[in-house]
Amino acid sequence: MSAENGAGTAGHKTIVYNAGELAVGPEGSAGNDDLRVLTDGALVAVDGTVVSVGSSEEITRSYPPENADTVIDAAGNAVVPGFVDPHTHAVFAGDRSDEFEAKLEGTTYQELLADGGGILRTVRATGEASLEELVANLRTHLDVMLAHGTTTAEVKSGYGLDTDTECRLLEAISIVDDSHPVDLVATFLGAHAVPPETDADAYVEQVIDEQLPAVANQGIARFCDVFCEDGVFSVEQSRRVLEAGLEFGLTPKVHAEELSHLGGTKLAADLEAASADHLLYSTEDDIDALVAANTVPVLLPGTAFGLGESYADARGMLEAGAPVALATDFNPNCFGRSMTFTQTLACVGMGMTPAEALLGSTTNAAMALDLPGETGRLEPGASADFLVVDGPRYAHIAYQLDGNPVRTVCKDGRVVAE
Ligand code: NIG
Ligand code: FE
Repeated sequence: MSAENGAGTAGHKTIVYNAGELAVGPEGSAGNDDLRVLTDGALVAVDGTVVSVGSSEEITRSYPPENADTVIDAAGNAVVPGFVDPHTHAVFAGDRSDEFEAKLEGTTYQELLADGGGILRTVRATGEASLEELVANLRTHLDVMLAHGTTTAEVKSGYGLDTDTECRLLEAISIVDDSHPVDLVATFLGAHAVPPETDADAYVEQVIDEQLPAVANQGIARFCDVFCEDGVFSVEQSRRVLEAGLEFGLTPKVHAEELSHLGGTKLAADLEAASADHLLYSTEDDIDALVAANTVPVLLPGTAFGLGESYADARGMLEAGAPVALATDFNPNCFGRSMTFTQTLACVGMGMTPAEALLGSTTNAAMALDLPGETGRLEPGASADFLVVDGPRYAHIAYQLDGNPVRTVCKDGRVVAE
């Protein structure tokens, strides 16, 4: 289905044609506009940037496939933008599958954490891991993500909880970013949990006075995130960390209303955060504040599914005009790396349409990472990050329940997985 010609002289030319449907992106600039779909579509890219989309007939007339370097005959299958996963905790060590069993027997997430398990258990295992092990673990997870169509992902630190380990996690992200096809965006999440025998206020001071300056000096992280939750960090403590992050040039993100309603969504809106994530307990008022602040709601249906919780109110958010984004939240508590399964859950669990789920996994997810226009849509000027789906319509992404509906993955106009 794909071939490397070596035909071009100047600039690497990529062409994909015979797409049963080619999903371009939203009709307008807003993420909750309708999805623009071309039937029997085609796309041309030069040096990894999309230069033209249209019908197969138009495109192959203007750009004969024999003159391209990378040629993909989609053979009637759908072509969609590569997925952007804007919320993962993919760099860690250790195993917590036994906690999955404990949760099935009725132990809650908060009980595990209060008992030194959960995040704190991963912190212990991660603290004992070398940089090489962390790099190898992250690479393994990214291989799975890429095979399922993710071409850009955010990765958070947060299993260090001390300056050295937090910086080591960010360094692992940077090393893998330089050597793996998936583009990574790093987020500093020093305020992920309160270390044992530490007072939350004292730890917040340590994050602000020690961790943040070191992280800023390292220059890898672009965002600063906080787990704003009852029993973890209060709204005031979260605000202190995020405002300090802003002074170092890190854009805020917030884990908000995941297990209870505390006020993290309003905090995110108040600070004009790039995103507010989870939102299982957000109110209509909270969502109106997010829309007014242009803060993207990032929904993580895999987490709700894994915890047996009710899903976030995606429909209410879409009706309020919010550009709903989706993410895996991949972490030891939510061991799912597939944005295709995330879209299935978004449709079946949250009542999103396949088009809304696709926009949430591409255009809107890119907005949650402050990358609008760069990736997550297939329009001239955007990166040629695209997927050939196993099926004639893009709806097959969410529709297929039996494995991986992604056949071919292209990053910057080159085939990176098939
Ligand atoms: O987004 N809530 C905080 N962080 C993760 C869970 C991390 C963990 O349990 O290891 C989340 O769900
Ligand atoms: Fe998370």
